[in-house]
Amino acid sequence: MLIEKVYFAVDMSQSIVLFGPPGAGKGTQADAIVEATGKPQVSTGDMLRAALAAGTSLGLEAKKYMEAGELVPDDVIIDLIEERMQQDDAGDGVLFDGFPRTITQAEALAKIAEVSLVISIDVPDNAIVERIVGRRMDPETGDIYHVTFKPAPAEISGRLIQRKDDNEEAVRTRLTAYHNQTSPLAIWYAEKGLLATVNGNQAMDDVGAEISAVLN
Ligand code: AP5
Repeated sequence: MLIEKVYFAVDMSQSIVLFGPPGAGKGTQADAIVEATGKPQVSTGDMLRAALAAGTSLGLEAKKYMEAGELVPDDVIIDLIEERMQQDDAGDGVLFDGFPRTITQAEALAKIAEVSLVISIDVPDNAIVERIVGRRMDPETGDIYHVTFKPAPAEISGRLIQRKDDNEEAVRTRLTAYHNQTSPLAIWYAEKGLLATVNGNQAMDDVGAEISAVLN
């Protein structure tokens, strides 16, 4: 296990951040964390895709960035989070998935909510492209599958969709954005004593077990 040898005083009334490169397994692991902590998942990627599907001006603004694999501007994302955190279910903290992604977003978050733990799922670049290109989503349940690593049941395979940004070109741009703009946050949170790193380059259940160990 690669869990850092630090002890966390996880205040369960505060928020948790799920951190990692595209395709690290944040969405895959989020359900179990939601179940274990009772905190609602706040995924900026899911919120942006919902806005796009609804045809809102926010969705249309975000579309060009998302499809190219670039980050949506900080002010758009921060407004989205400020609004989401005013909802009743956010009072006891939430599980952030895919937010914050820049130091500017993290500084804004520090003014909006207390973060007690950042779980970083560590996966090398050479494993990411295969994961992303093989990902399929069930539009009815939101469940995440993979053509090789987690095949969907045959009865739903006909309705699976592939995200528009799940192609090799966009993944490479997303990885560049991650390394340039997002990965410095790991040091930022480590200096605050909040970062726990788990090995995401192993079977999904083993990643989940490491995350449980951090939470417990
Ligand atoms: P977002 O939706 O957040 O995408 P992402 O961070 O790139 O992460 P993914 O959803 O691609 O991956 P994941 O870590 O959830 O992996 P998953 O569990 O699905 O953001 C999309 C876009 O929105 C961004 O590019 C940007 O434009 C914009 N955006 C969003 N938030 C933003 C923000 N805060 N600021 C600015 N812009 C923002 O797993 C991937 C695949 O791998 C699946 O098929 C899964 O089955 C498989 N898998 C998972 N774990 C394993 C394992 N252990 N072994 C083998 N396969 C595995």
